[in-house]
Amino acid sequence: MSVIENTLKRLQGQRPAASPAADPAAQGYGTVAAAGAARRREAPAGDGAAGERQLIVDQNSLRAAGMLPPAHQEHELAQQYRRIKRPLINNALGRGVPRLASGNLIMITSAVPGEGKTFMSLNLALSMRLEEDVTVLLIDGDVVNPRLTQILGLEGRPGLLDMVKDPALAADSLIVQTDMPGLAFLPAGHHESNATELVASARMHQVISRLGNENAARLVLFDSAPLLVTTEAQALAHFAGQVVMVVQADQTAQHVVFEALETLAEDKPVFLVLNQITRHSHPGYYYEYGSGAKWREQTGSS
Ligand SMILES: Nc1ncnc2c1ncn2[C@@H]1O[C@H](COP(=O)(O)OP(=O)(O)OP(=O)(O)O)[C@@H](O)[C@H]1O
Ligand SMILES: [Mg+2]
Repeated sequence: MSVIENTLKRLQGQRPAASPAADPAAQGYGTVAAAGAARRREAPAGDGAAGERQLIVDQNSLRAAGMLPPAHQEHELAQQYRRIKRPLINNALGRGVPRLASGNLIMITSAVPGEGKTFMSLNLALSMRLEEDVTVLLIDGDVVNPRLTQILGLEGRPGLLDMVKDPALAADSLIVQTDMPGLAFLPAGHHESNATELVASARMHQVISRLGNENAARLVLFDSAPLLVTTEAQALAHFAGQVVMVVQADQTAQHVVFEALETLAEDKPVFLVLNQITRHSHPGYYYEYGSGAKWREQTGSS
C-alpha cells in the first residue's frame, strides 16, 4: 500500500466527511459522449444558448480514447461516481449542509500530470448531469494542453480563453450543447502566448463568476492542469468553490500531494480522490473530503 493510500486510510473515520448518500437514481452513464469522431448537427437552440450546433457524441469513441471505463467496469465505476458527486452536489446546492460559496464552481486538478483529471472530469460530468434539477457545464480549463477539447473534436472553436480576451463575447454563443440532456461543454478556446496571464486575470474571475452565478443550479466543472507544473491551475483554484484533487494510487508520493495542497488556500474545500486503485477487492476510487489545512493538520505535514 502506498504512503498516500495509508494516509487516506488513516483519515477515514477521523473526519466528519460529508457522507456520500446512496444515489436513488440507479442510472448508468447514458449512451452519449463525443470523440475526435464527434459530430455536430444543426439543432434548435436550447437552454438559452445561441448554440446553433449540438455536439453528438459517441460513447464507443470515448471508450476507445480511454476516457470512459471499459465496459466490464462501467457499473462499478458508475456507483463510485455517484458517491464522489454526492457531497460535491450537496455543498454546491446546500442540500442537507450549508451551501458553499461558489460551491457550484468545481475544479478537478492533481499535483502532477497524468493522474486522471480529464477522465475524472468527464465521467463526473456524465454522472452529475443525471441528477434531477441541475445542469452541468464542463469546461476545458487546461488551456495549454486542452485534451478534452481535442477528444471532443472542438479544436479551433472559440471558448474560455476567447471569453476572457473579449468581454463582448456572450457565453451562450460559445457554450456547446450536447445531445445529452443537462450537459454542455465550453472548449478551451484559441491558445494565446499569454494564456497563463489570461487565466489569472481579473477578467477571468468575472467570466467564471458569471458562469457560476447566472444559474445556481448549474454545476460548472473545470478540467484543469496539474497544480505543480503550471500556474494556471493555481489561478483557477483561486476562483473555484470546491477542488477535487485526483491522486494516482501507487504513483504519486505523499510529499508531492502535500506540496500541491500547499498551493491552495488553507480554507479551500478539497475533495481528495485516490484514482486507479488496483490492489483492493473493489478497484477504482477512494475518497475523502476536507480542506487543505485539515489535510495538513491531520497528516502531520507542515
Ligand atoms: N479511473 C480510471 N480508469 C481507467 N483509466 C483511467 C482512469 N483514470 C485515468 N485513466 C487513464 O489514465 C490516462 C491519463 O488520464 P487523464 O488524461 O485523465 O490524466 P490527466 O491528469 O488529465 O493528464 P494531464 O495532466 O496530461 O492532463 C488516460 O489514458 C486515462 O484513460
Ligand atoms: Mg488532462
